[in-house]
Amino acid sequence: MQVNSESILSVKDLTKSVQVEDKTLVLLQALNLNVAAGESIAIVGSSGSGKTTLLSILAGLDLPSTGQVYLKNQPLHQFNEEQRSQVRAQHVGFIFQQFLLINSLTALENVMLPAELANMPDAQVRGEALLAQVGLADRLDHYPSQLSGGEQQRVAIARAFIAQPDILFADEPTGNLDSKTGQHITDLIFDLNAKEGTTLVLVTHDAKLAARCQRQVEMDSGILTEPSALVATDDLGKDQINSKNINQSESETQTPVSQEG
Ligand SMILES: Nc1ncnc2c1ncn2[C@@H]1O[C@H](COP(=O)(O)OP(=O)(O)OP(=O)(O)O)[C@@H](O)[C@H]1O
Ligand SMILES: [Mg+2]
Repeated sequence: MQVNSESILSVKDLTKSVQVEDKTLVLLQALNLNVAAGESIAIVGSSGSGKTTLLSILAGLDLPSTGQVYLKNQPLHQFNEEQRSQVRAQHVGFIFQQFLLINSLTALENVMLPAELANMPDAQVRGEALLAQVGLADRLDHYPSQLSGGEQQRVAIARAFIAQPDILFADEPTGNLDSKTGQHITDLIFDLNAKEGTTLVLVTHDAKLAARCQRQVEMDSGILTEPSALVATDDLGKDQINSKNINQSESETQTPVSQEG
């Protein structure tokens, strides 16, 4: 494929299918996406449309069934788990929808972990500073079971920031936060984007968060569309004003199907 060298993330003809009993379930279809370094992009869409599935593949946590994913020009789709974990340690921050904190580690130890894996010398100082930034200076030694849902989410956010990733993937980063804390976390994420040039790929149902991103794409039943393209030209006839499918040519467009396997 032609890899756009200015893209930090480049996806070509990606599909993801899973086998459930005797059926093949198509979760992602013929997906194409380029994200420029420093860009912020929001992925929106209804529950079950495939957003988390896509994010996991983009971040090298999971593999596509077919197609290509280049992150920092590295072919994740050809890499084994160990190679992908190296790319993740060097370049990727990830805020999981379910946080995935390690229960046997304190808040501070959870946050320090990626920095230690990346051999950063000042993990503890940075970890404490980040936890203070997310408002948890007095929760450093708490275990995840001793933290509220929103506090766990903030620990996960601090952990995603600590190794200064080139690209941050966040799955509903404000999903468990009240609006004031959510606003604060949103500001932190966009500060990172502005100051460090961190690329942001955010999955969110939060309209305010999505609106702060430079670009919004929508996932619908495993198909990615770019709704912002719909208002690019004022003089389009109303019947032409449809979401532009950025995955497929029109003739290929179809709804996801379960195929007998
Ligand atoms: N390993 C799997 N096996 C079978 N089905 C799966 C698997 N992983 C995900 N799915 C299904 O794929 C669909 C997309 O799941 P996904 O978690 O990506 O949705 P989502 O858009 O993130 O939804 P939400 O907004 O609720 O988080 C869902 O219908 C889910 O049940
Ligand atoms: Mg999800």
